[in-house]
Amino acid sequence: MVSFKNKKKNFIIIGAQWGDEGKAKMVDVLSEQVDLIARYQGGSNAGHTVVTQNKKIVFHQIPSGILRKNKICIIGNGVVLDLIELMTEIEYLENCGVDVFNQLIISDRTHILLPYHRLLDQARENQKGGSKIGTTNRGIGPAYMDKMGRTGIRMIDLFEPSYFRKKLYSVVKEKNFLLRKYFQKSPIDVEKTIHDHLRITKKIKLMVRNMPYFLEKKLSMGKNLLAEGAQGTLLDIDFGTYPYVTSSNASVGGACTGLGIGPKWFNDVYGVTKAYTTRVGEGPFPTEMGAPLDAILREKGAEFGATTGRPRRCGWLDLVALKYACYVNGFSGLLLTKIDVLSSFEYVDVCVAYQYQGNLITEMPSSLTVLSQCRPVYRRFEGWSSDITKITSALELPTQIKKYIQFIEKAVQVPIIWVSVGQDRKQIFKNTASIFLKI
Ligand code: GDP
Ligand code: IMO
Ligand code: MG
Repeated sequence: MVSFKNKKKNFIIIGAQWGDEGKAKMVDVLSEQVDLIARYQGGSNAGHTVVTQNKKIVFHQIPSGILRKNKICIIGNGVVLDLIELMTEIEYLENCGVDVFNQLIISDRTHILLPYHRLLDQARENQKGGSKIGTTNRGIGPAYMDKMGRTGIRMIDLFEPSYFRKKLYSVVKEKNFLLRKYFQKSPIDVEKTIHDHLRITKKIKLMVRNMPYFLEKKLSMGKNLLAEGAQGTLLDIDFGTYPYVTSSNASVGGACTGLGIGPKWFNDVYGVTKAYTTRVGEGPFPTEMGAPLDAILREKGAEFGATTGRPRRCGWLDLVALKYACYVNGFSGLLLTKIDVLSSFEYVDVCVAYQYQGNLITEMPSSLTVLSQCRPVYRRFEGWSSDITKITSALELPTQIKKYIQFIEKAVQVPIIWVSVGQDRKQIFKNTASIFLKI
C-alpha cells in the first residue's frame, strides 16, 4: 500500500485558452518544487518559451523543466515524437549547458512522427486552401491518425529493426501512393528513413523506459511530478473548437492516458490564462479585436508564434470560454500571465456572455456555426498606465488590476493563485488568491 501521508504534491499545468498562455514559464517556476516534469501530449507543434537572465530558450518536445538541474524530464506515450527534431532540440539545449542525456526519459510506447506525416500535413493544408485549419505543418494530425488507425510506429518498434523495417515498408506503400498520386508530391525515401531513425535510436536508447513502471516506482518513493500540458483546452480534440483544434487531448484527461498513471496521484490542476486572449491558426474567436487595437496588443505582448513565427490573432479575455475550460479541467487554481501587456490601454474589456440571434448565452456552444455567429458582450474596466513589470509585491499592483482580477475570479469561481508580470521567471507573484478577495 502506498502511504499518502506527508507526500509531496503532484501537479498538472494546462493551457486554459487556445495555447501560448505562458505555460512554459509557469512550468519552469513550479519545476523548482518537483522532481519529475513530463510532457503528455502534442509534439513539435508546441513552442514553449522560458526567459531567464535575459536568455530566451524555446522548447518544442522536451519539457521546459529541463532547465532545472538534476530534474528528470519525461516524454510520455501521449506525445507524437519527431526524432529528427528531438536531436536538433537536444543539441540546442546541450549548447545552452543543459545535461539532456542525463535528465531526459522517453516512454517506449511513444508514437514516432515520421517524415511522411509532415509531408501529408502540409499537402492536406495546401489542398484545403481557404478552409485550411492553419496547422503548424509539423505532421501532428497525420501522426495521431496513424496512432488511432493502428498503423503507427512506436519507440519500442525501433528496438526491433527487422519489425520496424517490415512495418515501415507496409505503411509507406500507402503514404507514398497518396503523396505521389493524390497530392502530386515527391514520395519519401524508405531506406533513408530507416537509416536515420535507427541511428538516432542508438544515441537515445538509454533514455527509453517502460513508463508506467518507472513512474509508479518514483511516485511511490515520494518523488513528485509536474505534468506539462501543451496547446490549450480550446484546441483539445474533444473539447476544443473542432475541427479547428489539434489532434490530442490537451485537457486534463490527457495527463493520465499520456503518461500511464492514475488520477489518484494528482493533487492540483492549474490552468494558465493570459489576461487577454490569442489564437494562431484558423477558427472562430469571438473576442478577436479589430484594428488598430490588435496590432498594438500584438506588438506589446510580442504575440508571434514561438514555433512558426506567425502573428497571433489578439482579443480581449473571454470569460465564457475561460469558465468552460475551468469546468472541463476542474482547475484548482488559475495562473494569470501577461497582465503587464495591458498597461497603458485606456480601458480593458472582458467578455461576460455571447449574443446569439438576439439571445444572451453564457455556455460555450458545441456548434461551430453557432460559435462563429456569437458576438461578445463586454464589461469595461478602467485602464492603468503604470509599469508593473518591476514591482516586487502583488499588493503594489494598481487598484484597477486588482479589481479586474477579482472580477475574473468571481466569474469563474476559481482562485487566481499566481500573477505573472513579465517574461522573466522572477517576474511573478505567488499565493495571490487572498489579496484579490480582500479588495
Ligand atoms: P506557452 O506555449 O504557453 O508556453 O507560451 P509561449 O512561450 O508560446 O508564449 C508565451 C510568451 O509570453 C513567451 O514569449 C513568454 O516568455 C511570454 N510571457 C510569459 N509570461 C509573461 C508575462 O507575464 N508577461 C509578458 N510580457 N510575457 C510573458
Ligand atoms: P503551445 O503548446 C498555439 C494550433 C495551430 C492550429 C491548430 C492545429 O505552444 O501552446 P497542429 O499543428 O497541432 O495540427 O495545428 O492548433 N496550435 C497551437 N496554437 N499554441 C500551440 O502550442 C499550438 N499547437 C498547435 O496553430 O490552429
Ligand atoms: Mg507556445
